[in-house]
Amino acid sequence: MSLFVSFEGPDGAGKSTQITLVSERISRAGYDVVETREPGGTPLGERVRSVLLDPGDHEIVPRAEALLMTAARAQHVDEVIRPALERGAIVLCDRFVDSTLAYQGAGRGLPQGELTALQEFALQGIHPDIVILLDIPSDEGIQRRHGSGVPLNRLDQDNSTFHERVRSWYVQAALDDPARWVVFDARRSPEDLADDVAETILKRHRKNYAETGANRTEE
Ligand code: TYD
Repeated sequence: MSLFVSFEGPDGAGKSTQITLVSERISRAGYDVVETREPGGTPLGERVRSVLLDPGDHEIVPRAEALLMTAARAQHVDEVIRPALERGAIVLCDRFVDSTLAYQGAGRGLPQGELTALQEFALQGIHPDIVILLDIPSDEGIQRRHGSGVPLNRLDQDNSTFHERVRSWYVQAALDDPARWVVFDARRSPEDLADDVAETILKRHRKNYAETGANRTEE
């Protein structure tokens, strides 16, 4: 039985470390796990990622940025995510549709309704079952990024009000849809945090499995 989990959060929340730790725990529990990321996840997506994140001197206007992120996502859904879900895997995706709504919507100011329509075109009905929000105040996230030694990408270099709008959008989205979003404090120790995130995912998986089983019995 498949489960689609996306990880979201402001820059510097430590999502990629968490996904590695959570993935280890879930595969130790005997599940087929697929780790992937956006922008990226496919050969085309990784090329688009370089265009988008390279801090070079080309300017990318917000609508082009949204379209490139979403084009990479359409490829990712068809080539990686849908096939993995069809074979029953648990998919852990580092950023997905909500990153476009947070960064290009709240951050850049593009209309949410237009972005949502664009996402439907790209996703063709594939949505995360759970969104794990690794929350951190945006200035602490950016400070972590600066201290990590990892080169800053084009979006890391945006100003602090941009990152604050992104973080506020995430917090509100989680409040608006508590059935789908689960919020964790990203400042906790990585190993403890990963134990709790993995437990949340496995609990949801067991619940979905039990409900599907119940539906089958009723049929
Ligand atoms: P990355 O180095 O992967 O950062 P992080 O570890 O914070 O995920 O860079 C991805 C950047 O791309 C990040 O700043 C968020 C941004 N992004 C968008 O603006 N829109 C999107 O739809 C996606 C998927 C990412």
